[in-house]
This record gives sequence, C-alpha cells and structure tokens, in this order.
Amino acid sequence: MLKTHSCCQLRATDTGKAVTLAGWVHRRRDHGGLIFIDLRDREGITQVVFNPEFAPDIHAMATGLRNEYVIQVEGKVERRLKGAENLKLPTGEIEVLAGGLKVLNTSKTPPFYINEEVDVDEALLLRYRYLHLRRAGMRDNLLLRHRVIKYMRDFLDDRGFVEVETPIMIKSTPEGARDYVVPSRIHAGKFYALPQSPQQLKQLLMVAGIERYYQVARCFRDEDTRADRQPEFTQLDLEMSFVDEEDILVLVEDMFTGLIENLTPGMRLLKPFPRMSYAEVLDRYGTDKPDIRFGLELKDISDIVSSSSFIVFKSSIQKGGRIRGICLPGCAGYTHKQIDELTELAKSCGAGGLITLAWLPGGVGENAENVSIEQIRSVAAKHLDSGQIRRILTRFEAHPGDLVLIVAGEPCMMNKVLDELRREMGRRLNLCDPKLMAFMFITNFPLFDWNSERKMWDSMHHPFTAPFEEDIPLLDTDPGKVRARHYDIVCNGYELSSGSIRIHNRAMQEKIFHILGYQKEEIEAKFGSFLEALEYGAPPHGGVAPGIDRLVMILTQSKSIRDVIAFPKNQAAVDLMTDAPSAISEEQLKELNLKIIEPQV
Ligand code: AMO
Repeated sequence: MLKTHSCCQLRATDTGKAVTLAGWVHRRRDHGGLIFIDLRDREGITQVVFNPEFAPDIHAMATGLRNEYVIQVEGKVERRLKGAENLKLPTGEIEVLAGGLKVLNTSKTPPFYINEEVDVDEALLLRYRYLHLRRAGMRDNLLLRHRVIKYMRDFLDDRGFVEVETPIMIKSTPEGARDYVVPSRIHAGKFYALPQSPQQLKQLLMVAGIERYYQVARCFRDEDTRADRQPEFTQLDLEMSFVDEEDILVLVEDMFTGLIENLTPGMRLLKPFPRMSYAEVLDRYGTDKPDIRFGLELKDISDIVSSSSFIVFKSSIQKGGRIRGICLPGCAGYTHKQIDELTELAKSCGAGGLITLAWLPGGVGENAENVSIEQIRSVAAKHLDSGQIRRILTRFEAHPGDLVLIVAGEPCMMNKVLDELRREMGRRLNLCDPKLMAFMFITNFPLFDWNSERKMWDSMHHPFTAPFEEDIPLLDTDPGKVRARHYDIVCNGYELSSGSIRIHNRAMQEKIFHILGYQKEEIEAKFGSFLEALEYGAPPHGGVAPGIDRLVMILTQSKSIRDVIAFPKNQAAVDLMTDAPSAISEEQLKELNLKIIEPQV
C-alpha cells in the first residue's frame, strides 16, 4: 500500500507516530512561512503541514501543489496547538508534519469546485461525473447505497434466500413500459429485449424449486425520465414459494425496519407500517402513493353543496362529478398572487379552476357552528346558505384563519389535482418531517384498470398477479370488480415497491391474458414457454421488488434519483459523460442487417 493510514484515521493518541498518507489536495493554504494542505481520501481529511525550517526542500515542492493533485506524504503525527483544533473533523486534533512528499499525479483545474457543495449546472456535473463523485455529498450517498445493499443481502441470506443472476438479454416481459432491444447479429431481424424486470424468470426459479430467490437486479425501461425514474435502475427483486401476502409483508417490514434502525439511526419510522386499501388511500389522499407524514386529507362535500345554485357545483354534480377539497391551516390571508399560483397548478393538472373559501379570523371563537357569513371570503359564498358553510367548515375540521381549496369535476382528474395541491402545500407549509420514514402498505387493488383509449382492460400491476379467490367468478361477469392479490409499499409519497401473489396454473394465466385482449397466437408467441412451465408442478408463490435507487434517494433526502446512482442518464436519457446513445458504424449496421431511416422532422 502507498499509505499506512486513511485520511480519517489518525487521532491525538497517535501523536509521535511516523505515517504515510496518500490522497488528493483538497485545499491548500499558504501562510507565508507554513503551507497547510487538507489531504483528502475516500474516508476523510487530514491536515498536513509543510514547515520551511523543518524540511526546506519539501516545503519548496509543496509551493507547486494545486487542488486535486494526487500526492503521497510521509511525516510525523503532531498535536495541533491549543485553539488551532478543528472540531468539525474527526482528525481535527492532530496534523501531520511533512518530512517527505511525492507527487503521484497532477490535475488540470477542475471545471467546478470539489471542496464546496456549491450549485453547478447539472449537465456539467454529469459530463464530469467522476469529479462530481469526489464531492463529500455524492461520496456519502454511494457509501450509504453500498451499506443498504449489503444489509439487504445479509438480511435475506440469514433467512435462506439464494441470490441468482438472471440474464439481461431476454424476451420481452410486460411491466407497462417500452422495451430496450438488442439486435441479434446471428439471427437477422430478431431482437433480444432487456428485462423491464426479471418477473417471469423469478417465477420460473420458483417452478425450478429454488423456493427463496433474490437478486440485486438491473431493470431497463424505455419511458420518460423523471426525478424518481431512470431508464436503467436497480431493484431488490425477490420471490418466495408457499407463501401468502402476510409472509411477504412481514418480511419486507422487518427488513426495512432493521435497515433504517441500523443504518440511519437519526430516522424515525411509523411502527407497525400502516396498511390501507386502495379505495381508502384514493378517498383520503387522491393517490395510491400518498405522503402520510402530514394530514391535509381530502374531504368530499358533494352532499352538502348538491342543492346549491352555484353553477360550478351544479354542473359538476349533474355530470356525475364530485366536489372535494383540502383545508390549509393558517392560509386564509393568502394574497391574490398566491391563490393564482395554486389555481395555475390545479389547471396544469386538468382542473377547470379552483374555488377558495377563506375563514377570516376574528369571530366568536373557534367553532364552525358560530361562524358568521362576514368571516367568509369566497366566490361560492353567495350561493351557499350559512348552514351549508358551517357544514363545509365542520367537514374540513377548519379553524379561523384556514383556507379551503375546492375542486369540482370527475374523480380521476380531481384526485390528480388535489394530490398535487396537497403535496405542494405540504412542502410550502413545511409539514414533512425530514427525519420520518413513513412506510405504508397498500392492498386490495383492483386486478384491472379500464383503458378508455384502447377500450380494453390493462393490468393494474402485471398480468401474472393472482385474483382474490372469491372474486374469480367475477372474471367472467364484471372484471372491473375483481380484486388483486397485489400490494404496494409506499414511503414519503413515493411508490417504493410493488408485488403480488402470482397465478400458478396455466388455465388461470391464459384466462387473464384473454381478458387483457391478447389473441391465442400472441399468447403462444410471447408467453408459450412460461405457460408450459406452469404445467410442470408450479408451486404457489409470490414476491416483491423494492426499488433500491428510490429507497436511497429518500434516505439521503436527495431531490433526484440521479444523486444516488454513480453514472445516471440525464432527463433526455443521455449519458453526458460517454455520450451514449451514439451512432454505430456502417459496418456494424451491415452485420446486424439494420438500416437507419432518418427521422422526418
Ligand atoms: P414495478 O414495475 O412496480 O414492479 O417496479 C417495482 C419498483 O421498482 C422501482 N422502479 C423504478 N425505479 C427507478 N426508475 C424506474 N424507471 C422505475 N420503475 C420502477 C420502483 C417500483 O416500485 N416485477 C414487479 C415486481 C413484482 O411483482 O415482484 C415490478 O417490477 O421503486
């Protein structure tokens, strides 16, 4: 080794020791006589002193050092003078007096500061990702990610799970996105698909008798990138035989609890993880991935305002819509500008507009029963009688000084709007405790979702999910009412994981494919070998696949999943460092029997 200690290792008790350190010049301070170098490696920083009286040649060499030079220093550990200690550094009580210096490599001036977490254009950070990763914040994210994955592996190994790698070049498996495909040279005109997940393969491992499988699995999905979505991401994919829902949920709850308590001691959990049905979360939060660290729950006032002459309420209810809203504590004094911003947000999610109802403070007490109409500021007020206003305020559990936001319309749009408004206001009002990891389970999803464009059923999860036993007769009569043995894990407003108990017999699997609109030949071509496997003693089984990137993003309170992936793609799915995707040579195209047709602009 070119070093005897890491840059985070030495303490006052090491005083007098001869050591060799190696790392990068993090910061250099020239005090006329003495030169101080903060020497950095992966573990931390140690101060090195070059003294012209002690070693004049070495001191002279140190004058030429610049940030990010790679150096090796030999020296003696000394206690820093009283008052010169740096309590922020674990090594802050000591410094190394340099007696030897070797420049292992020089460095060009980096395009951004590495020793400060100042904001820089993300494109530049991605272009020089290897330099960005030198920053302490990014390094800490990668180290935590490593510990998270190690914890998961150890946890599952202790419980008899076997890690099995599955191929990357496979046949398409539907997870709701487009496939990335790889052309075959040997089989002209044929393509492998990269796995959107190892779903069918892990089920085949259950047929193979593995019983407990896991894999830190790479998945590939050609879909629009978002802050919490990458084209290439990692799941903790797992599957178990001879289990029901409870076995999987308990396993996952134990794993996440242990992981948080062991790796991020400052974080709190809701214990046990709350469980809600799909219908309940939609009703209370308007989304199946709510952030339950705060309230602002949705309330329905359709019954209260159904007799109102207010055209917005009336026409919505006539069209079969609902009137719902959320109550914002202490926001009655919002300015026109603030309300306009919220209205714009609502409109961007599909709402025709936003109705506000402010309860100005200053009346007789806190009780909505005593509210006088003068205290209410709302365009809807003159179309409502005082009894209706009181009932609305009571429904929202409002207090003087609160502002109620109301949306009218069809449920799907309204849920989207109110979910967005609720998230936005949770942020603005600082209602999210950053130290809370609010995991929750969502169950009782419908098996199918009606696709009104294609006029067909889609799988709510994926087509391998088993229906509730008692709902099987409904598959023929009312598929929309069939419940799925599907569960989601949500944390702080993000979908962290989906899973289900699977179908393990061929007839049922074929029936589901038919309901989803697949033709017989298509089923055979796409899923023939999988269906055949189900005929060879497939055991009952189920599984789940937490997204590792999303988990680490939440744990590190990062704004984007890109901050916890070593080499991510940008918003346009481009790797700015290596410039992928890129063109391939004519020769390669020929080998692959491919011709590029220039896209028409
Ligand atoms: P699903 O498609 O819900 O289920 O994915 C499971 C989890 O993977 C993560 N995830 C993503 N993370 C980053 N970028 C993406 N583009 C992305 N897409 C998904 C999320 C998500 O909750 N085979 C099933 C699981 C099963 O049934 O066992 C599956 O893949 O955290």
